[in-house]
Amino acid sequence: MNAKQLILERRTVRKYTDQPVPEELVLELLDIAVYAPNHKLREPWRFVLAIDEGRERYVEELLQLLERSGKFDGKTPEQRKALECQFTTVPVYLTVLCQTIGTEAQQTEDLLATAALIQNIQLLATDIGLGVCWKTGKHWYTEEYEQLVGVSSTERVVGVLQLGWPDVVPPVKKRESARNKLTHF
Ligand SMILES: Cc1cc2nc3c(=O)[nH]c(=O)nc-3n(C[C@H](O)[C@H](O)[C@H](O)COP(=O)(O)O)c2cc1C
Repeated sequence: MNAKQLILERRTVRKYTDQPVPEELVLELLDIAVYAPNHKLREPWRFVLAIDEGRERYVEELLQLLERSGKFDGKTPEQRKALECQFTTVPVYLTVLCQTIGTEAQQTEDLLATAALIQNIQLLATDIGLGVCWKTGKHWYTEEYEQLVGVSSTERVVGVLQLGWPDVVPPVKKRESARNKLTHF
């Protein structure tokens, strides 16, 4: 696919088949995605991949963390099961971290560079038919989650990417034309 097609066809995919995603494929995507622009070539990112056996342990620990955070409070058994399913049916979790060192301006640059890298991952995944959902719910930004995935005191979580082969590809969500948001100087 060319760049235009990739951008227009990318969707946030939240439902996946149980077909495994090979680790080598994820690593290949990441090795291309790291060519994202980043100021002074600081390459500020780091990744924590939960796949195969690691994923089993990760999901187990994640559900316990969610339980403790009150995410399941007040849910009926059916609602709880549906919510759990949102986490247990994800084939791969990739936590994307960004360093938090240097001046405020450098930290902003590093965060933006990491966001560019994430979009690279999403577009590359689209190209091979792999689905991605970029998650930013508040539980990913807790000390408990940071401990779970080993975030150091000079790093922050930018997002958690769920990866898998799409079971459902949502329809396009139309965007307003940029022409309506444009002012001539
Ligand atoms: C920074 C960021 C955070 C997001 N966080 C979530 C999230 O926590 N949960 C989720 O389901 N989708 C999340 N998304 C995906 C958006 O909801 C999605 O991009 C939007 O609905 C448009 O759909 P599309 O990506 O299919 O075009 C996030 C996207 C971005 C860029």
